[in-house]
Amino acid sequence: MAITIAVSGKGGCGKTTLAAMMIKELVAAGSGPVLAVDADPNACLAMTLGVEVLGTVADLREQARSKTPSNAGTDRLSDFEYGLSSIITEARGFDLVSMGRPEGPKCYCAANNMLRRFLDKLNDQYAFVVLDNEAGMEHLSRRTTNHVDLLCMVSQPSPIGRITAQRIVEITKSLPIEIRRSGVVWSRTDQADDLEGIETLTCIPEDQDVLDACMQGRSIFDVQSSLAQRAVSRMLRDTSMLKN
Ligand SMILES: Nc1ncnc2c1ncn2[C@@H]1O[C@H](COP(=O)(O)OP(=O)(O)OP(=O)(O)O)[C@@H](O)[C@H]1O
Ligand SMILES: [Mg+2]
Repeated sequence: MAITIAVSGKGGCGKTTLAAMMIKELVAAGSGPVLAVDADPNACLAMTLGVEVLGTVADLREQARSKTPSNAGTDRLSDFEYGLSSIITEARGFDLVSMGRPEGPKCYCAANNMLRRFLDKLNDQYAFVVLDNEAGMEHLSRRTTNHVDLLCMVSQPSPIGRITAQRIVEITKSLPIEIRRSGVVWSRTDQADDLEGIETLTCIPEDQDVLDACMQGRSIFDVQSSLAQRAVSRMLRDTSMLKN
């Protein structure tokens, strides 16, 4: 079963950047195939990783909706397999699946269920699954996965950031997801902000090279020896996601 790492947190706090840096680190460590999952309808993970997405789960959902229903179970099964293989983008050292933007609340739910079924199916084929989520907390209750080995609650050291991290902890307690370890990743700072009862996983320093790459539309793989990347590397080792 794949080791699943998920990121969560408020808008613009650095979730996608963290997910991308973790993927870069896992690929560099060569510890098995990695699946990057962009579960944010406002997809940015692919771009941050320098990958072009050719199809999304939301596209597949739309195609399935406009098709005449078939009674043949085998047809449906092969549609599923074919659909899944058509939206996996193969990149350098990892694969990527993107949720895309469903067209309405109902489709949202259906696309989300489809993504979950895909991830269940793919679980055994990868050593790691890294999930980049949309801002807020709704995605947690919609749950794209059944278990999470490491939940990184990304936060900036502000009152709003602290409250958001605390709310995420409360929500996760009430969900039918097994979360093996969770903690706060303080983003764009050198200083951890202690939160009672919540582990600090790491602080990721402000890193001009990371910001420049984003502003210039370059991928995280184009950033050389970055301070932020080193913090991510340490965190993956400290949490035993990677061997030292
Ligand atoms: N450690 C860092 N140093 C400098 N800039 C950073 C760092 N981490 C993230 N950023 C910048 O902050 C901005 C927001 O980051 P990012 O897109 O990762 O946030 P997000 O939480 O995924 O946002 P959204 O909620 O919109 O999905 C980007 O311009 C990114 O380059
Ligand atoms: Mg993002």
